[in-house]
Amino acid sequence: MKATITGWGKYLPPAVLTNDDLASVIDTNDEWITSRSGIRKRRISHIDTSEMSTHAAREALATSGVDPKDIDFIMVCTCSPNRLIPSTASYVQEHIGAVNAGAIDANAACSGYIYGLSMVAAMIEAEHIETALVIGAERLSPYMSLDDRSTVVLFGDGAGASIVQATEGVGAIEATVIGNDGAFTDALTIPGSGSEANPRDDGVVAVTMDGAEIFRGAVTKMSESANAAIAKAGWDIGDVDLLVPHQANARIIDSVARRIKLGEGRAFVNIAEYGNTSAATVPIALAEAIEQGRVKTGDKLVFVAFGGGVSWGAVALEWGGSTEPKGSYVADVEPPTKTALEMLQDLQ
Ligand code: ACO
Repeated sequence: MKATITGWGKYLPPAVLTNDDLASVIDTNDEWITSRSGIRKRRISHIDTSEMSTHAAREALATSGVDPKDIDFIMVCTCSPNRLIPSTASYVQEHIGAVNAGAIDANAACSGYIYGLSMVAAMIEAEHIETALVIGAERLSPYMSLDDRSTVVLFGDGAGASIVQATEGVGAIEATVIGNDGAFTDALTIPGSGSEANPRDDGVVAVTMDGAEIFRGAVTKMSESANAAIAKAGWDIGDVDLLVPHQANARIIDSVARRIKLGEGRAFVNIAEYGNTSAATVPIALAEAIEQGRVKTGDKLVFVAFGGGVSWGAVALEWGGSTEPKGSYVADVEPPTKTALEMLQDLQ
């Protein structure tokens, strides 16, 4: 028994925060952000992580044609859950009516979806479950500080979801690789969050990051883990049709593509639109790649990510099923009453 992705979905909140919006309130500019990161816009969510997850999940259910009652397991990969208890996955279960599912959140920061997919694939291969819903969802905007221009320009909110099912046929998850190095816990962190419950002296609970350290680690570990997953699957780099990488910085993606000798145009890049949505970047990018006709039956795909921990991982899979959605879903969400910039300012 192997595991294959049969459904894909995404939810991007409607409020758009441009580089110029940020430049109107902090000391930055569109040229700096675009040239250093490739980011032009990001979304700021007026709904919580579980609601974004729910809309992405409903689209994945529609594209796969799976009945929510047939889901055995829901995993929401996030470092920005609604609350510490209950799991965000519990809200999703209730919202979509997946009454027969177990539900759990998993936090491997930006690598969360890769970890989630690896774990769920192992559960399917061991025949513990048949159908899983894996979501990457983040609402990191409450943890952005307008006083830290090196991080506030990078992150955005959003959610992506995949239905993963058992298959005996060809086309499945062929290899997974995960890793972590706890020696770098301070390189990307949110001090004062969680059970520390001890906000910093200034009362701000916000992301702090050693940008250069993270940049180096991301290039090295994303390259190594992509190569490891490709080798484990028994493929060569020339076999890979599309790399779907974590979208943290366009320069990181370019460097990884060069290092693994991927070749022109074989990495999917949408960072300009959404920035870094942490655990959500890969499932959002996958859904967009399919919508844009970049994935065909039989294609060999590699997902790869790096994030806080520091954590990393890669998945090599052959796309087994169709890329024709079995159904569609349009999220009917009350629009925000404020602009993206106003919402971000309110969160300070
Ligand atoms: N606007 C204008 N200037 C800025 C900004 C900004 N938003 N942010 C920083 N600067 C300034 C710095 O203060 C510095 O000024 P100084 O030389 O006078 O001190 C100058 O720009 C250069 O700063 P660097 O940090 O050297 O710039 P760099 O080219 O390294 O880019 C960046 C910074 C984009 C953060 C880069 O290090 C990076 O992308 N790192 C990876 C981090 C990442 O992707 N994190 C996402 C989360 S982790 C993950 O998902 C993997």
